[in-house]
Parts: sequence; C-alpha cells; structure tokens
Amino acid sequence: MSPQKPPSDIARAYRTEYEKGQIDEGQLPESPWTLFERWFQEAYQSGDEFSNAFTLGTVDAQGQPHARVVLMRGYDPSGLVFYTNYNGRKGSQIGQNDRVSAHFLWQRQERQFCLLGRAVRLDAAASDAYFASRPRTSQIGAWASPQSQPIEGRAVLERLYQEQVERFEGQAVPRPEYWGGYRVEPSSIEFWQGRHSRLHDRFLCLPGPTGWTWQRLAP
Ligand SMILES: Cc1cc2nc3c(=O)[nH]c(=O)nc-3n(C[C@H](O)[C@H](O)[C@H](O)COP(=O)(O)O)c2cc1C
Repeated sequence: MSPQKPPSDIARAYRTEYEKGQIDEGQLPESPWTLFERWFQEAYQSGDEFSNAFTLGTVDAQGQPHARVVLMRGYDPSGLVFYTNYNGRKGSQIGQNDRVSAHFLWQRQERQFCLLGRAVRLDAAASDAYFASRPRTSQIGAWASPQSQPIEGRAVLERLYQEQVERFEGQAVPRPEYWGGYRVEPSSIEFWQGRHSRLHDRFLCLPGPTGWTWQRLAP
C-alpha cells in the first residue's frame, strides 16, 4: 500500500454524518452515572483501547487553560479517579485552583462526555493500594521522573531510572509521597451523541436538592 498523504481539503475528506445512536428523552436514567457506565462499557466492548483515557483540563494562575490526557482508574457516583505526580504541572495547578474539566471522546460511538468539577486528593491509603498494584517498572518510573521538569536528555532519564532500580533492588517499591490519586467530583455532567444533520443530542445534568436534573441543550 502506498503511503497516503494527508488530505489537502480536510473539510471534504472527513465523513460528515453521524448516525450511530441517539439519547432517548423518554428513557433518561435518574443518575447520569447510569448512562456514563453504559457508554463507557460500550466503548470498552467496541475494542477502543483508549476508552478510559480522558482529557483533563486545569487552569494556571494566569487563567490559562491547560489540557492533557490521563487514564481513568476508577469511578463511582462521587467522581472519576486518576493518578499522577502531585508535583508536576497539573498537580501544582490543582493545588492553586482545584476546578478542572474531564472530557472523553468515544469516537466509535460518536459520543462525548464532559464533566466539570473539583479535583480532590485521594487519601494515602487509597493511593498506596493503587500504587502497590502497578507494575514494578511503573513504580520505579514514578521515583525516577521529575514530572514536568526540564531534563537534559534521554540519557539522564535512563540514568535516573537505573539509580532507582539499584536503590530498590530486592525490596518492595513504596509509593513516593508526591505521587497519588485525585477524584474529580462533578458539579455538572454533559452527554453528547452525534445525530444526522448536525441535530445532535445533548443533555446537561446538574445536581439538585432532590437528585439530578436533565436538560436538553441545542447542539
Ligand atoms: C494515553 C495517555 C495516558 C496518560 N495517562 C496519564 C496518567 O494516567 N497520569 C499522568 O500523570 N499522565 C498521563 N499521561 C501523560 C499526560 O498526558 C501528561 O503528559 C503528564 O501527566 C504531564 O502533564 P502535566 O505536565 O500537565 O502535569 C498520559 C498520556 C497519554 C497520551
């Protein structure tokens, strides 16, 4: 197969109709987590190996938004859990402003899921338990990498890794205190399902005194 060049006319080269599903107004669940679970499950079952990857948005002290992908490692009605280095860029930003966004694109189903809320650190016991379940190479990597700091070169990174391999030889690798989990606790949740003619289904869920409310939004 000859290598294909990227299309010069991007607008024409991509499909323009969405027709893989719909959100049925008459069958909205009480809790958005019921629909989240179904959508996540369908993305996973469709073979999407990044179905647990979401784009985490944070804001810095100047009000500049930052976005990067992290992996969801758990969820329940209190929120989405991910793990990271608390001293990295996102960790410092969350330390100053805990308001974040979490965005999933489930491309095969033509869906997006957006959650706004606050990031709250997991307690040490929960982070310890998850850290202990990670492969040893990832555990050592957490000690070796000063996340988000400038680094002189690949060789420096490999040397830092090797130093930690030697340091922990023959022992269990403990969790660094600067590494752990956050839970993103929702203040709003939005579901988007692509539909024909750009008449997509969008629903915004807000928590109220007697449970969640669902509001359809224009696409
Ligand atoms: C598919 C994918 C999954 C990732 N998962 C994580 C993760 O779970 N935790 C994490 O700290 N970084 C993860 N990263 C790296 C982040 O995107 C980012 O580069 C890193 O966390 C540093 O971000 P920061 O400098 O804004 O703190 C992942 C990247 C990709 C592409």
